[in-house]
Amino acid sequence: MKQVAVITGASSGMGREFVKQLLEGTSSLDEYWLIARRKEVLLEIAAKYPDKKIWILSLDLEQEESWKEYKKKLEKYTPSIALLINAAGYGKIGSCSEIPWWEQTGMIRLNCEALTAITQLTIPYMKKGGRIIEVASASAFVPQPGFNVYAASKAYVLSYSRALNRELKKKHISVTAVCPGPVETEFFQRAEERKKTPAYKKLFRASKERVVKKALKDADRRKEVSVYGGSIKAMRAAVKVVPHRLILKGFRSS
Ligand SMILES: NC(=O)c1ccc[n+]([C@@H]2O[C@H](COP(=O)([O-])OP(=O)(O)OC[C@H]3O[C@@H](n4cnc5c(N)ncnc54)[C@H](OP(=O)(O)O)[C@@H]3O)[C@@H](O)[C@H]2O)c1
Repeated sequence: MKQVAVITGASSGMGREFVKQLLEGTSSLDEYWLIARRKEVLLEIAAKYPDKKIWILSLDLEQEESWKEYKKKLEKYTPSIALLINAAGYGKIGSCSEIPWWEQTGMIRLNCEALTAITQLTIPYMKKGGRIIEVASASAFVPQPGFNVYAASKAYVLSYSRALNRELKKKHISVTAVCPGPVETEFFQRAEERKKTPAYKKLFRASKERVVKKALKDADRRKEVSVYGGSIKAMRAAVKVVPHRLILKGFRSS
């Protein structure tokens, strides 16, 4: 039976890099389903690999209708999905008084609800040995005033993924939560519409190539969490021991 990979957020940044590394690597997958809103970009990607079987699903994952459309595709084609990568997501920098409610809820809708819907819909089509990669963020490790809802949404992704990994053990399907620090992608164009990233965070920006390479390796090893880079690993270790109320005192209120 054909082995299928489903990748959301495939049109840019890390999602696009996952697609590239899978298509140009040694993976034994037979078919790729690429999901994002920008159809023309997905078609461009597909055109680069004429010898590969690539399906384009132009879906706005903030819309429940799109989840239903994905469900219909699954029911119609009954694929055997070997790999699911949920990379669609966005964040907005700013405090509660700076980010309007519809953008706050939009982040939850895409980063949490859509990710959960796509995952839950996909699991019945996965067999023993299947892998799920959920792109969370290092911002999941500690609450972040000024990036509040985004960090909270990623804390959800991390918690959901870890528990799901446990739940799916019996089925021999693994879930890897990818928790990068800042990564050089289009993410910041949308994130910085109102407020800029603090300068110190720019020092830690990693390349998407390396973050994705490590994520794929960690997923192959069935690791629960994938963290790229010494500084982010150190940050994760620190926030496990330093009380969060002390860390929160370091943030200015707005
Ligand atoms: N860059 C970072 O610093 C960083 C760090 C940690 C975690 N992350 C996480 O990594 C993931 C990938 O982000 P990235 O850095 O690669 O950013 P990106 O370059 O902006 O890519 C985001 C992807 O999500 C898709 N997307 C956005 N809204 C969508 C919607 N409503 N429906 C369907 N697809 C949608 C975009 O495609 P269309 O615009 O074509 O729809 C795009 O393919 C996100 O979950 C992000 O939160 C990023």
